[in-house]
Amino acid sequence: MGTQECPPPIWLMRQAGRYLPEYRKIRKTSSSFIDLCLTPNWVTEATLQPIQRFGFDAAILFSDILLIPHLLGQDVSFEKGEGPKLSPIDLLGFIKDAYRVDLLEKSQPVFQAIKQIKSQLSNKTTLIGFAGSPWTIATYMVELGKSKDFSKVIDLAKAADLDPLMSLLEDAVVTSLVGQINAGVDVVQIFDSWASAVPVQLRGKYVIQPARNIISRIRLEFPNIPIIYYGKGVSEIYPEIIKNFSGVCFGVDQHVSPKWAAENLQTLAPVQGNLDPLLLIEGGAKMHQAIDEILVELSGGVFVFNLGHGILPQTPLEHVYDLVERVRCHK
Ligand code: CP3
Repeated sequence: MGTQECPPPIWLMRQAGRYLPEYRKIRKTSSSFIDLCLTPNWVTEATLQPIQRFGFDAAILFSDILLIPHLLGQDVSFEKGEGPKLSPIDLLGFIKDAYRVDLLEKSQPVFQAIKQIKSQLSNKTTLIGFAGSPWTIATYMVELGKSKDFSKVIDLAKAADLDPLMSLLEDAVVTSLVGQINAGVDVVQIFDSWASAVPVQLRGKYVIQPARNIISRIRLEFPNIPIIYYGKGVSEIYPEIIKNFSGVCFGVDQHVSPKWAAENLQTLAPVQGNLDPLLLIEGGAKMHQAIDEILVELSGGVFVFNLGHGILPQTPLEHVYDLVERVRCHK
């Protein structure tokens, strides 16, 4: 990130993962996904796999936004073919116990992995650390079962009963991100993947304010660290989130037109995005056209090429090679 570049740098959200045969291989050898996330050698290997294969300009730490609830004491598991499963919790009891957890101590394997990755990564490749937003993490902690209809977490939010959990998670996210920066990541990204599920009248409280708090608390310790804020489905409130902050990049999803992003966001801050992950599955002329449109509209300003959301497991590897080549050959 930083200066205007041609071609723009490229990496893909969720670039380390199941679409890669080499990832599926190490996944098979580990007893659980959480185990994988807490074993520095595996984290290092999974983080570097997409760099070795595609030569992306940035590596993203192999981890998960649900590692924080796990480390705070909630059981988190990932069954094959299903979404994440989190054990039911009694909210206030859980929060009380969670405040006694030494999150920095429990995160040591992650920090050790970051040091290992840095030592193996070329200094031309940026290392990105990340965390979920308090709201997005909370949706998983509170909503049980496969159907994410958000009704329970929204009811808690409306009654302000979600607030103690939001405060706990804000502290935990800051602790984790500051720890990741101290361990050596160059940039951090905040994933607010379910921001659009917050009722509009509560967006200030549950999306905008927590994002601003996290950014300013990180900036107290690291005034110049680049931060990417990705809020799915809420691009129109980005200017409110980054007001008075510099060095914050807007991660935009595929529902925003590149032209709109250029005119309304890139005039204020760097932009990252926003190829539709479904077009990367489809490939061919339609994908090429969408890539070209993004490049034409956004390459004139500070820009990082990415998808609008995470890469999907069924994505053909050939299409990823094709994407990288097309972005790199853009003049
Ligand atoms: O980007 C990367 O490559 C780094 C690793 C990374 C993972 N998860 C690995 C993972 C990152 C940045 C995440 C973020 C994440 N996790 C988000 C925010 C981004 C987004 O996609 O919206 C969310 C909402 C989660 C929660 C989560 N973790 C879900 C819903 C799932 C299951 C469904 C799915 O997409 O896989 C996970 C599991 C997960 N996280 C896997 C990987 C590689 C697959 C687990 C497995 O191998 O069994």
